[in-house]
Amino acid sequence: MKDPYRNVARIYDRIFDSMNKGLKLVGIRMFRPTKGMSILDVGCGTGSNLELYQRYKCSLYGLDLSPSMLNVARERLGDTARLDLGDATDMPYEDNKFDLVISMLSLHEMPPETRLAVLNEIKRVLKNDGRILLVDFHPGPYQPLQGWISKLIIFFSELAAGREHFKNYRQFMATKGLSKLATLHNLEVEKQQILAGGTFAIYLVTPK
Ligand SMILES: C[S@@+](CC[C@H](N)C(=O)[O-])C[C@H]1O[C@@H](n2cnc3c(N)ncnc32)[C@H](O)[C@@H]1O
Repeated sequence: MKDPYRNVARIYDRIFDSMNKGLKLVGIRMFRPTKGMSILDVGCGTGSNLELYQRYKCSLYGLDLSPSMLNVARERLGDTARLDLGDATDMPYEDNKFDLVISMLSLHEMPPETRLAVLNEIKRVLKNDGRILLVDFHPGPYQPLQGWISKLIIFFSELAAGREHFKNYRQFMATKGLSKLATLHNLEVEKQQILAGGTFAIYLVTPK
């Protein structure tokens, strides 16, 4: 299968890490893990988010469809996390396993039916009292200057990511992003924050 991240995996963090680190830290503040928890990052990419969770002495898991992104994650995380190559529509984990499941900037690039299947899988592997942390693009309204600039950068990055990726991004935005997904999937929003001038949303949710 073709790996859409083959050409960008090695430079991904150099381009996006400084822009996205603040979002990751807000996510940690929204739900601070405690020692011994099991945490899964779905679409973990280069592992930069899991790296921030290392200090909490949790069992860390990452799942991703891209071998090249996972190679970078493996170099970064060594044996501090279990990293699996696979499709999040069919996760290699048992039911009720995780205290926290994170999906950061991966749902928008999936076709709607894949998004649906991935959220069902997230709910399956989540413990009854577990939390889901969703971070993704937000369809505004955008604040003057900061929001508009951020929106432009996002728009052109998504355009550069290829026709299929861009089509899914547009569909995600047109259908109101995470807020619509939360309603569709019967997810209770415990905390929510809109950032970067209205261009990113972070939701901490639980299945109702
Ligand atoms: C934009 S990157 C974000 C990576 C990381 N979460 C971050 O915030 O830095 C999206 C990631 O989602 C992964 N992905 C997309 N669809 C997936 C699927 N169906 N199953 C697993 N991973 C998937 C891609 O391979 C890619 O690594």
